[in-house]
Amino acid sequence: MNDLIWFNGQVMKMADAHVGVEDRGFQFADGVYEVVRFYNGKPFTLREHMERLVRSAEGIKLSVPMPIDELADEITRFIPRTGEREGYVYLQLTRGVCERNHRFPRPAPPATLLFYVHKLPPALEPGEGEGLKLLAVKDERWKRCWIKCIGLIANVLAKNEATGTGYDEAVFLEDGIVSEGATSNIFAVRGQKLITHPVGTKVLPGITRLVVFQLADKLGIEIDERPLREDEVMRADELFITSTTRELAWVARWNDRYIGQGKCGPLTTKIHRAYRDRVRAETRGSGASSSPASHPRIVNVA
Ligand SMILES: Cc1ncc(COP(=O)(O)O)c(C=O)c1O
Repeated sequence: MNDLIWFNGQVMKMADAHVGVEDRGFQFADGVYEVVRFYNGKPFTLREHMERLVRSAEGIKLSVPMPIDELADEITRFIPRTGEREGYVYLQLTRGVCERNHRFPRPAPPATLLFYVHKLPPALEPGEGEGLKLLAVKDERWKRCWIKCIGLIANVLAKNEATGTGYDEAVFLEDGIVSEGATSNIFAVRGQKLITHPVGTKVLPGITRLVVFQLADKLGIEIDERPLREDEVMRADELFITSTTRELAWVARWNDRYIGQGKCGPLTTKIHRAYRDRVRAETRGSGASSSPASHPRIVNVA
């Protein structure tokens, strides 16, 4: 790797460039990138790459923070400064640094924009070299929701679609099946039973979800762990989501439909009380104390 980098408008040594820990690229994969080949010190198809960059950025509701003609000029001028003749430019644009929250920061912080080069050996002549060996794999992009992975851009976009239109949480729905929220698991109550989607390709094994399972077992409440249909959600007696920061949060509305009796239902309350008892039992003692009333209610943290 060459030791020069173009970092937020300045050319500097790679070692002097620092990206913040709370950069959204680092924490949410909230960013886009380009790779541009250069030959003989000159970028190839640079305009096409710049146009794709704009489209990718628009796809995550982000703007490229400078006109792409200027950016293209910067790249073209930067390559010779590195002294490399054959290689590629790696460019990355993220939503910048701000306090961690799935919601887009308002006002928007300055984006992080950087690029640098990697040297490549000269390209092979047509037909030269050994033939490649390919392996067919299952297309699981992205069906590994059980991994608590920082590739959160799909969740970030969903969350912002919801909060941008007056909702608190987005819930993923595919082929009539409700899997989980952008930052939560979801449970429906039908009669005296809970229903929730199994963890795995579509659902993160939430720790709060796990605690609900343990409490339900103790309380003698049955849980049906199976794909949850949207029509069951809409006709649920009660609905609640779970997450570490929100514990159990009862749901009043699904899209424009009211759920249950317009207040927190008895089973949700019962399990949430048991949850609180467990929190108290496990966190009692001589920690620093602060009045709960002095804290605002948490609604939209992850
Ligand atoms: C996609 C998703 N599902 C479920 C959860 C709930 O998990 P936990 O109860 O461990 O906070 C989260 C929490 O951030 C999440 O991001």
